[in-house]
Amino acid sequence: MTFRARHLLGIEQLAPGDIRAILDLAEDYVALNRRPVKRTDALAGLTLISMFFEPSTRTQASFELAGKRLGADVMAMAVAQSSVRKGETLIDTALTLNAMRPDLLVVRHPASGAVHLLASKVDCAVVNAGDGRHEHPTQALLDALTIRRAKGRLHRLTVAICGDIAHSRVARSNILLLSKMESRVRLVGPPTLLPAGARDWGCEVTTDMAEGLRGADVVMMLRLQRERMDGAFIPSEREYYHRYGLDAEKLALAAPDAIVMHPGPMNRGVEIDGTLADDINRSVIQDQVEMGVAVRMAALDLLARNLRAGPRVVAAHA
Ligand code: NCD
Repeated sequence: MTFRARHLLGIEQLAPGDIRAILDLAEDYVALNRRPVKRTDALAGLTLISMFFEPSTRTQASFELAGKRLGADVMAMAVAQSSVRKGETLIDTALTLNAMRPDLLVVRHPASGAVHLLASKVDCAVVNAGDGRHEHPTQALLDALTIRRAKGRLHRLTVAICGDIAHSRVARSNILLLSKMESRVRLVGPPTLLPAGARDWGCEVTTDMAEGLRGADVVMMLRLQRERMDGAFIPSEREYYHRYGLDAEKLALAAPDAIVMHPGPMNRGVEIDGTLADDINRSVIQDQVEMGVAVRMAALDLLARNLRAGPRVVAAHA
């Protein structure tokens, strides 16, 4: 079983076998990335364009590095300096780029669903690098690779996802992935930051951090996404840290070997204690960044193989 889709738009469209195929190939790229010469020609002759309509450090840098290490020609659209500033729509920009015949388009956009819409208008493979509060599939895949390497499996784990769930595409993609892989997800946060309907997602939901952390194998902290808040969601950062910020004392409630994760960027002293985030015995935050490059290489490689396999594959699985 391998991943045969034309685009990577969300975890929602992936089967457990697709997820395993991407993670297994990513293991090879972890090994390659640890060698002095980090280069293959899996994407030689192909063109990858990235378009980020929202700020990004890790995701954008790792997609570009991934493309380059696979031998693609990589171009990062400087969206802030482009005609987008002049009011060109997302679709017009995408059609313009499409006419330059890229093979892979990596897109981040503030509107949920924008990347799906774009994928229906272009000829190349599209990768969702985060759309609004909807999905961020490569983040969930890199988190899964990090968890699998630390815990040896992805099933029968208890994963506490804590904080600003309501605004988080990272949470959404992780919930989908972990549920598909048969792990248990607990959502923990203040009532204002738990999405309406969260109880229908098949997760346990609690507003009590102690209850949420109890016995968890993995503790995944989320950033307070102030840019997506249009009002007061928390009384104060101090109060938030007191109740929901992860520190050594709260972590002691989780399993003794629980790992601490955060997709970055972190607000130290708001959702997580800085010393704990840097504690290499508990925190795998830097591993997540390393796995990000490998997972993105695997995803791009598999999408390129599907492109080469041609319309037969596209027709069957688009
Ligand atoms: C996340 C994102 O942009 O969705 N960051 C990331 O991709 N590493 C989470 C966040 O911004 O808080």
